Amino acid sequence: MQITSSSSKYSVKHYPDSVRKWQKEGNYFYFHTAETILEVRIISDKIVRFRFAADGKFQRDFSYALSEKLEESPVNFGIREFEEVFEIYTDAIRIWVARDNLRLTITDTEGRVINQDEMGFHWQHYLLKGGKIVYCSKQIQEGECFYGLGDKPTDMNLRGKRLENYGTDAYGFQKDTDPLYRNIPFYYGLHHGIGYGIFFDNTFRTLFDFGHERDDVCSFWARGGEMNYYFMYGPDLLQVAEAYTKITGTAELPPLWALGYQQCRWSYYPDKRVMEIAAEFRKRQIPCDVIHLDIDYMEGFRCFTWSKEGFSDPVKLGRDLSAQGFKMVVIIDPGIKSDPDYDIYKQGMERDYFCKRADGALMEGDVWPGKCVFPDYTNPEVREWWSNLFKELVESGVRGVWNDMNEPAVFEMGTFPEDVRHDYDGEDVSHRKAHNVYGHLMSKATAAGLRKYLMPNRPFVITRSCYAGAQRWASVWTGDNVSEWEHLWLANVQCQRLAVSGISFAGSDIGGFIGEPDGELYTRWIQLATFHPLMRTHSASNETGFNQEPWSFGSKYEFIVKRFIQLRYRLLPYLYTTFWQYSHHGTPMLRPLAFVAQQDPQTYNRSHEFMLGDALLISHVDGPGVKEKEVYLPAGRWYYFFNDQVFEGGQTVTIPTPLDEMPLFVKAGAVVPNYPGIQYVGERPIDEMILNVYYCEQPTASMLYEDAGDHYGYKDGQFNTIRYKQVSDKQQFRLKKRFFGQYQASYKKYRVLVHGLPFKPTEYVVDGKAYKLNARNFAVGVVKVMVERKFEELILR
Ligand code: NOJ
Repeated sequence: MQITSSSSKYSVKHYPDSVRKWQKEGNYFYFHTAETILEVRIISDKIVRFRFAADGKFQRDFSYALSEKLEESPVNFGIREFEEVFEIYTDAIRIWVARDNLRLTITDTEGRVINQDEMGFHWQHYLLKGGKIVYCSKQIQEGECFYGLGDKPTDMNLRGKRLENYGTDAYGFQKDTDPLYRNIPFYYGLHHGIGYGIFFDNTFRTLFDFGHERDDVCSFWARGGEMNYYFMYGPDLLQVAEAYTKITGTAELPPLWALGYQQCRWSYYPDKRVMEIAAEFRKRQIPCDVIHLDIDYMEGFRCFTWSKEGFSDPVKLGRDLSAQGFKMVVIIDPGIKSDPDYDIYKQGMERDYFCKRADGALMEGDVWPGKCVFPDYTNPEVREWWSNLFKELVESGVRGVWNDMNEPAVFEMGTFPEDVRHDYDGEDVSHRKAHNVYGHLMSKATAAGLRKYLMPNRPFVITRSCYAGAQRWASVWTGDNVSEWEHLWLANVQCQRLAVSGISFAGSDIGGFIGEPDGELYTRWIQLATFHPLMRTHSASNETGFNQEPWSFGSKYEFIVKRFIQLRYRLLPYLYTTFWQYSHHGTPMLRPLAFVAQQDPQTYNRSHEFMLGDALLISHVDGPGVKEKEVYLPAGRWYYFFNDQVFEGGQTVTIPTPLDEMPLFVKAGAVVPNYPGIQYVGERPIDEMILNVYYCEQPTASMLYEDAGDHYGYKDGQFNTIRYKQVSDKQQFRLKKRFFGQYQASYKKYRVLVHGLPFKPTEYVVDGKAYKLNARNFAVGVVKVMVERKFEELILR
């Protein structure tokens, strides 16, 4: 073992010495030095796990992040020995392990470096707290950019930054506040057009340095645990995202209504006020699916109770809301009031389910109800108990649960002290190891409960804190933001970053949680959030009486806000299809431009523009009175959504930004499916599917996924995937359709709207049968035709 001196207060840094022996066991390779072991596990030709035991003994191989479905598919791999290195090869990569010091170099099959160790694996003894601080350092390649890492409210490209994961209640966070609520130790590197990812599966406080300390070195480390990371090769960044979700799990399809508009406030009180809000939406014909109840619905902030005064008949409330098409979502916090007369407290005490300090005293701290105790969700028995507590809530008509304060947040103390003990599924660890998974496991248990009692309906959970992999059961919101223009930019960057960190189902508090937006800021925020998978207005204005509903800012704003919420509802089949791609393949729903055009360096530092799914490119208006906005369009052709003006990509364009428009573009060739107008999901059977098709001479493929929008029939084949291909030329538009599936949709017809035809057609041909077009088929800029659902080919000529 080599030892070098270090200026750190912890202890000297240690490095592995040379390889004494090695062995192969199936798809695992082990390299032993005098005292350390490196394990290399080939998961697939592009995914490899590296695990390093600094003292020659591996810790328990256990993770809360991993998908239960993670399958290994190692094929054609092997090892070759050379004088100075070992070469492990797969069909896609080569891993060179240096005999001298276990440093790694990973190349593609043509020898191009993808990722290379600087000092590689090393460690320090953590004298103060025990265990080791485990490090890995890598060489930054020329021009390398970095992405990912969850909800960091900072520039899209992380190059030059040092960031930390330790879930924090970051009330009123600002640009560059770190750490925030979530803990996602996963990043991407991109250089020379080559993309890869590293997921450091360690739940202690983790740190990442992307050339901040030394500009050519990227390093990551944890204040405990093991150096255990997954390397994923793209070369496409989106392939890396898919590999990451293969490892940490894909999201289940949510109920379709959860993609509708959601209204929240701290707090709507009492039940009468909730019904007034609901009625207002319907009266004004502003679509809405969900109303959230914040903490005041409870009796003295006791979880799983209802305020006797304000919410005396929750079953009736649930029924009344449901009769108007609303779904009721309630907040549940981890803090359980210390109150001997409170049933949940009594149960938890009797069964010894609450967290304790090192010397056995209860972990007590103040949250909303006053003195509280906190369930140890790292204990599987506690998770089971917790999941059972949702029975009554569901029976009262609750359709979804919002988990808050689960970093965990404790007033005055901030969070739990590090000495608190946790079960950690039988391991018995301190809070240092369990902190970053506390909210993760709370939301997991919540989702398990909802799933159980809502069956056959699908559950819906939102969580504030989580660890990698929570996408399997929860959505997230970005936390306590502020009603300021900069927060619109932050919301945009955070939602994109969360999406490429495995969590697409994310949104921000529209209009800002703290403070009061004016009509313009609220309207611009609604516009951006129309394209965020979770679309929810929330505000903390309970004390000032300030309102933050779509109609709160006067009719001029209400009119525009309503138009965008309506657009959201029209786009539901497109959003749902994009969700299915995410759920099925792990493809992020929101895609930063670098992920869309990674060969184009113009995209590497862009944060304003992103794509939602395969067809829509969005930017946002980020200041008051902004009259025009510059938007970078990647290569290809783009239609400006509001007037079908065509732009060539590969350049920055400037577009006017009147308040009722925003930078929104559609990729030429795309088919964007739309619903007709509805007030909420399930309001009435959908009687036609509208296909907006954007003319293009390049053959372009699109798709539509559909199922019942709730229940699990899709798992038994009750779904359809419909593939469209536009193959047009200058004289003829042609759309081909291929249908797979057995779900009986309610609509029988397609209304096809063709945008941007360069010629005036006189007839349309459906599956070989020609019909004359007449004046009714033409509207400004589009040709409209109705076709039977079963059509296979549509031609306009
Ligand atoms: C903090 C949450 O972030 C916020 O959304 C919520 O309204 C308050 N807690 C009160 O429950």
